[in-house]
Amino acid sequence: MATAIVLRTYGGPEVLTSEPVDVGRPGPGELRVRQTAIGVNFHDCYVRSGLYRTLAVPGIPGIEAAGVIEEIGPGVSGFATGDRIAYVTGQYGAYASERLMPAAWALRLPAGVGEATAATVLLKGLTTEMLTREVHPIKAGDIVLVHAAAGGVGRLLCRRVRQLGATVIGTVGNEAKAEVARAAGCAHTILYRQEDFIARVKEITGGRGVDVVYDSVGRDTFDGSLESLALRGHLVNFGQASGSVPPFEVSRLAARSTSVSRPILFHYVAERAALEKLAAPVFEAVRSGLFPVEPGRSFPLADAAAAHRALEARQAEGPLFLMP
Ligand SMILES: NC(=O)c1ccc[n+]([C@@H]2O[C@H](COP(=O)([O-])OP(=O)(O)OC[C@H]3O[C@@H](n4cnc5c(N)ncnc54)[C@H](OP(=O)(O)O)[C@@H]3O)[C@@H](O)[C@H]2O)c1
Repeated sequence: MATAIVLRTYGGPEVLTSEPVDVGRPGPGELRVRQTAIGVNFHDCYVRSGLYRTLAVPGIPGIEAAGVIEEIGPGVSGFATGDRIAYVTGQYGAYASERLMPAAWALRLPAGVGEATAATVLLKGLTTEMLTREVHPIKAGDIVLVHAAAGGVGRLLCRRVRQLGATVIGTVGNEAKAEVARAAGCAHTILYRQEDFIARVKEITGGRGVDVVYDSVGRDTFDGSLESLALRGHLVNFGQASGSVPPFEVSRLAARSTSVSRPILFHYVAERAALEKLAAPVFEAVRSGLFPVEPGRSFPLADAAAAHRALEARQAEGPLFLMP
């Protein structure tokens, strides 16, 4: 028997309890994977609390993990037992010691990319590549505003945007995070809880505004992000750490012919070719050191509740992961 965290009711971290589960044999197109590291993300907290109703209860949460292929179902090609793989999925089930999954999700890990690293970098890395290559392709010379620039996605995003030749302005919650953001490539940092970030962006850009804002903070920053855009600028809202963005008048965008997007990674990696196209630069960035390998903090799978508490208390200094 394997073990899994089965969500039976939405609620606080205490609803995450461990149970034995029968995994079974892989069906056509499936793999049976022994999982060795499972990423813990804000998405998981939103699912657990019931904010997102994307996982019906009872259900096994978790969208990101790495492990080793134990058994291969009929019709699967390109994989062998013993292969190390990682995946991200919008269909859940990652909080388990073993699982069945479609082979179509699996990405074989290149040498030099560890399983704990893969299980904590894949979602954030794919999100970064989606944002900078697909949603708003960065051009050399762009000026870019990244909110929560010292956060998990924020740090990778700043590194990639800088590497693509753009200037990065990062907002952060405190001075320690400002240092992290500068180390990740921000030319300018703004303490957005103390300073008026719109005024600072105008000052830094000589009144022009920025070409794109990557905004995962949501409610608290949305209006200011719109105000910070240059003519024909693009506001990419990809998260809501401070709460959902309230409805707004589309005609507001006419003031400077700006645009707003609300992308979700899973819609950008639904096709195998698209997944591979975005995953290749993530693994390359890990191998080259552009995306630094952070040791992170591990919790036993059975103690997933403690990992959620740490994430929600904003105590997480690096990535969090569960070990079966
Ligand atoms: N659209 C997608 O497909 C996709 C994919 C992956 C992740 N995401 C989203 O991207 C965001 C970032 O994910 P992450 O894992 O890298 O998290 P994170 O950025 O490490 O953490 C969120 C950060 O948001 C800032 N923040 C501002 N107001 C906050 C509030 N009221 N409560 C909590 N935090 C607040 C905090 O930074 P400061 O202290 O510096 O303000 C905090 O560290 C999340 O919202 C996640 O859901 C979206």
